[in-house]
Amino acid sequence: MFKKIMIATDGSETSMRTAKLAIGLARLAAGGVTAIYVVDIYRLAQLPGYTTLPGFSEKLMGLMFKEGEEATSEIGEMASDAGVPFEKIVAEGNPGEEILRRSRESGTDLLVMGSIGRTGLEKIMLGSVAEKVVRHSKVPVLIVPGKSDLKILKK
Ligand SMILES: Nc1ncnc2c1ncn2[C@@H]1O[C@H](COP(=O)(O)OP(=O)(O)OP(=O)(O)O)[C@@H](O)[C@H]1O
Ligand SMILES: [Mg+2]
Repeated sequence: MFKKIMIATDGSETSMRTAKLAIGLARLAAGGVTAIYVVDIYRLAQLPGYTTLPGFSEKLMGLMFKEGEEATSEIGEMASDAGVPFEKIVAEGNPGEEILRRSRESGTDLLVMGSIGRTGLEKIMLGSVAEKVVRHSKVPVLIVPGKSDLKILKK
């Protein structure tokens, strides 16, 4: 049923625990996973100094792409340990939109993501990226809580 699972990661602890669950599901379904990290260029552009400090924007973009490479590679290692086929995408744009577009294009049948991410304000139930994806996705979205007692989600 869930042969093509997409895991959205922003490198946060919640999203990495999410990846563990998604890989477990893919294994049960004899399917594969794609990890996606989106460099949020619009949020970056709002940082003070982004357009005025020489070299700052390039440096920041470089760091974000590096974080994306690292987060997706870590999920790749987890998938490989579990014997689950793996692909990765490091893209740039608006995270919610990019996750929705790429999942549509690749025929994803389940999206898995954390309820919160890097910002992780506990008073907010869902982060803005998670909310956007849940609102607009045409396929089921599995939202993994930031805090959970589920055994598989513990380290
Ligand atoms: N840039 C991103 N690329 C891929 N997935 C992302 C990205 N940002 C968030 N996600 C996914 O969405 C989940 C929820 O993160 P989200 O960004 O919605 O909340 P937040 O960071 O706590 O709050 P904020 O709305 O301030 O960003 C993450 O656990 C991750 O699965
Ligand atoms: Mg976020």
